Amino acid sequence: MLDLSSHAAVITGATGNLGAAVVRAHLTHGTHVAAAVRDAAKGEALRSSLGDVAGTSEDPRLLVIEADPTEARAMDALVERVLRAWGRIDILNNLAGIFKAGPAADSGLMRELWDSNVLTAVTASAACLRPMRARGYGRIVSVSAIGAQKGGRNNAAYAMSKSALVRWTESCAAEVKGEGITVNAVMPTTIDHPVNRAQMPKADPKLWPSPDEVANVILFLSSREASGVNGAAIPITART
Ligand SMILES: NC(=O)c1ccc[n+]([C@@H]2O[C@H](COP(=O)([O-])OP(=O)(O)OC[C@H]3O[C@@H](n4cnc5c(N)ncnc54)[C@H](OP(=O)(O)O)[C@@H]3O)[C@@H](O)[C@H]2O)c1
Repeated sequence: MLDLSSHAAVITGATGNLGAAVVRAHLTHGTHVAAAVRDAAKGEALRSSLGDVAGTSEDPRLLVIEADPTEARAMDALVERVLRAWGRIDILNNLAGIFKAGPAADSGLMRELWDSNVLTAVTASAACLRPMRARGYGRIVSVSAIGAQKGGRNNAAYAMSKSALVRWTESCAAEVKGEGITVNAVMPTTIDHPVNRAQMPKADPKLWPSPDEVANVILFLSSREASGVNGAAIPITART
C-alpha cells in the first residue's frame, strides 16, 4: 500500500462524486487533506460522510476551507492556512470541473467551461507551486477526460477545455522538471456514479470506471513512487 502518511494535499472539486472517493482514498492512505470548497454546507456534508478517517478536532486529518479555486487570492489564503496547520503541501489534486454540452458557436459556454475546467486548475496550481518549489517536492494531478481526445457534435467547449488542461499539464511539467515536482493528468471515460446512471439509463455502468478506480490512479500519481511520470495524461477507460 502507498504510504502517504507524512503528506499534505490540497484538493479542489472535493464535494463532487469523484471528490468523495479521492478524499477518502487519501485519508485512508494517511494523507492530510485540505478541501477547497465553494459551498460550506457541501464541505460539511463531505466531512460527515467520511466519519473517523477525517480525524478529530484536536487532530484534524481533513480541513474544509471555503475557497473558490478560480480566485487567486482565496487560493493563496488557503495555502497559507494549510502551511500554518501542517507546514507543507506535497500534493494538489485538481478535480474541479463540469460537463456541459452545447453548440460549437456558443461563446458563453466556452467561457464557462474554460473557467471551471482550466482556470480552476491553473489558479490552484499557481498557489500550490510556490511552497512546492520552495521545498523542491510536489505532485500535481488534474482530471481531464477521455473526451479531450476528439471534438464532436455539441462537445466543442468540453473537448477544448479538457484538452487545454492536458496541454497545460504538459507545459507545466516541462517548466518544473528537475525541481522534484511532477505534473500529470488522468483522462477518465464516463465514471460510474448515480448522476451518470440517471442520465444514461440504457448504458451498462459496469463498463465504466468506478470512482475508486479513478481515485487509485490519482493516488499513485500523487505518490513519491510516481517520480518517473511527468507530463502524462493517462486514459482511464476501464471496460469500455
Ligand atoms: N463524471 C464523469 O463521468 C467524468 C468523466 C471524465 C472526467 N470527469 C471530470 O472529473 C472531475 C470530477 O467530476 P465529478 O463527476 O465528481 O463531478 P461533480 O460531481 O459534478 O463534481 C464537480 C466538482 O467540481 C466543483 N466545481 C465545478 N465547477 C467549479 C468551479 N467553477 N469552481 C470551483 N469548483 C467547481 C464542484 O463544486 P460545487 O460542489 O461547489 O459545485 C464539485 O466539487 C471533473 O473535472 C469532471 O469534468 C468526470
